[in-house]
Amino acid sequence: MTRATTEKRVAVYPGSFDPLTNGHVDIILRGARLFDRIIVALLVNADKEPLLSLSERLEIAREVFATHPNVEVDTFEGLLVEYVRRKRASVIVRGLRAVSDFEFELEMALMNRRLNAEAETVFMMPAERYTYVSSRLVKEVFALGGSITGLVPEGVEARLMKKR
Ligand code: PNS
Repeated sequence: MTRATTEKRVAVYPGSFDPLTNGHVDIILRGARLFDRIIVALLVNADKEPLLSLSERLEIAREVFATHPNVEVDTFEGLLVEYVRRKRASVIVRGLRAVSDFEFELEMALMNRRLNAEAETVFMMPAERYTYVSSRLVKEVFALGGSITGLVPEGVEARLMKKR
């Protein structure tokens, strides 16, 4: 067998995931079908006052993907591209919902390419029903007493309800 056929394609899907939404889950499952392994990488210290602590977010993501052996959940600090290098990954996955996401995502992808030309950013579109779902809006709706059922995995909703 040649090297190319034995090499595993590892992707990193970085983010704050505060909280993990069903849109994120959709992207991760698509990535898990496309790559040999996908690492969901939670940024440490993204927000000084997160809605869910890092350990809660880790626990939730590990619960959600417990039955998906090629989905790994991890944390990272510092530069994403350095983490990608350490994990011997070749792909950075980011979700694109609408044109409004594009500008920021393009800047990040090009900066990351400048820092590590070997890591390729791959944009993936979630199912249409998640195109308006973001962690920011989920947080706002929840804080104002609205229902977030169907927007986030059950584990997220249950933990948030406890905080009410
Ligand atoms: O879920 P988010 O907040 O949109 O994710 C943003 C994230 C974590 C992907 C981004 O902030 C990041 O990669 N931070 C790590 C620090 C870094 O590498 N910065 C330079 C990126 S251009």
